[in-house]
Amino acid sequence: MKKDFKKLRHEYGMAELNKSDINSNPFTQFQIWFEQAVKMELPDANAMTLATVSADNKPSARILLLKDYNEKGFCFFTNYKSRKGGDIKANPYGALVFFWPELERQIRIEGKIEKLDSKSSDEYFFERPVGSRTAASVSPQSEEIESREILSRMIETFKKDNGDDFKRPAFWGGYRLVPDLFEFWQGRENRLNDRIEYNFDNNNWRIRTLAP
Ligand SMILES: Cc1cc2nc3c(=O)[nH]c(=O)nc-3n(C[C@H](O)[C@H](O)[C@H](O)COP(=O)(O)O)c2cc1C
Repeated sequence: MKKDFKKLRHEYGMAELNKSDINSNPFTQFQIWFEQAVKMELPDANAMTLATVSADNKPSARILLLKDYNEKGFCFFTNYKSRKGGDIKANPYGALVFFWPELERQIRIEGKIEKLDSKSSDEYFFERPVGSRTAASVSPQSEEIESREILSRMIETFKKDNGDDFKRPAFWGGYRLVPDLFEFWQGRENRLNDRIEYNFDNNNWRIRTLAP
């Protein structure tokens, strides 16, 4: 019998988030929360949802791994010819969401997405194990494939032709989302959650508290 999932609810309340205890720099605040999630060894602590919007204004979202971040933005790697790659080309605005249930925390980040330079993409590409580099080079991400077997055959042919020594394909590399908005969310009792938003305005991060 189907479990009545409507009744699934979890009461939050392990921590608070006040305007007075946050860092005035949202990148630093992100770092504080992210490092806690990593230190706790949460599974896929660097997994985030990326939402993009297509040329015909249709949103779509998928999980990606955050591979780097600093005051310039948040970096991820993918196939430039994928569905998300097509969206970003047509409309460079995107949104990221991190959710760490064990910490009762969510972070939303919004901004404009740009391609990383080829040197940074090369650096990350060559840090990856050869199996992942091969998959990235062969898989026509987001396109229809006839079967899994055909993909395996394409991989075998690529390995035979190239071995371990091949360049990063031009269609695969990094993007950086350059934020103009962050929201830090901490779960609280009775759904009276804490929400603090940072907006980049006039060269400054303006901080406000939002209703839950
Ligand atoms: C935990 C997790 C991590 C993922 N990391 C990546 C990633 O870093 N890069 C990537 O291209 N796809 C990653 N994927 C696969 C994407 O969710 C998605 O299937 C793929 O990028 C194609 O998306 P698109 O068709 O919208 O372009 C990940 C999926 C999961 C569940």
